[in-house]
Amino acid sequence: MGQIVPDAVERYLASLNRAGDAVVDDIARAGAARELPLVDAEVGALLQVLATAVGATKILEIGTAIGYSGIWLARALPPGGMLLTMEMDPERAREARGNFTRAGLADRVTVIVGDAERMIAKVAGPFDLIFQDGDKHLYVPLLDRLVSLLRPGGLLVTDNVLWDGEVVPGFVRKPARDPADTRAIAEYNERTAAHPALVTAIVPLRDGVSISVKTMERDKDGARGFSRANV
Ligand SMILES: C[S@@+](CC[C@H](N)C(=O)[O-])C[C@H]1O[C@@H](n2cnc3c(N)ncnc32)[C@H](O)[C@@H]1O
Repeated sequence: MGQIVPDAVERYLASLNRAGDAVVDDIARAGAARELPLVDAEVGALLQVLATAVGATKILEIGTAIGYSGIWLARALPPGGMLLTMEMDPERAREARGNFTRAGLADRVTVIVGDAERMIAKVAGPFDLIFQDGDKHLYVPLLDRLVSLLRPGGLLVTDNVLWDGEVVPGFVRKPARDPADTRAIAEYNERTAAHPALVTAIVPLRDGVSISVKTMERDKDGARGFSRANV
């Protein structure tokens, strides 16, 4: 059973989700068979909703795996839109490319193979939405760089921020996660909550998804402009 959302509630949410299709279902099954830590269809639908809501034409993802979350994101893009997604495992990246092709999205997705910590310096923004789902130890080190790559009003969406509830001291009787990972995520949550250029809310869906919007400054007439925050 999930530590955060009871199984019955997860089943109910899944029963209402009509956004999936045969290709995403098939990729989810392939991921589950190999115990890959992919988002589920409910988080996938959330990603698609958020990307659609901000009118995303340029999206960055850290942690492609086999392309499951990337498909949900890319489906929100208009023709000519672009998803850049980073994966350090070449075999997973190859499989992801095949899955984007199967989903009819190959024209708007570029899979970058390599370590996001290095590759991120080579990427040019601004992005409308960034999905952070890579190495948990890189969440804090990459935070300011990712914020600088977002346009004002853009979204930084991060998966696994509740980490099976283990970021909540005392909530899980027998923690199973690596304590270093748990500390890294807890620190990330504190950083995003206090970040001068972000307003953040955490949605306790599946393993916890944080949604941060890069703030826009209002001038004296109430018009919105760029944030002055030093990021
Ligand atoms: C949680 S999985 C991503 C799942 C995917 N977003 C989905 O829901 O379909 C994390 C992925 O990040 C990759 N990864 C880990 N560290 C990375 C790094 N430093 N640079 C690029 N990719 C990395 C892993 O190989 C793994 O495939």
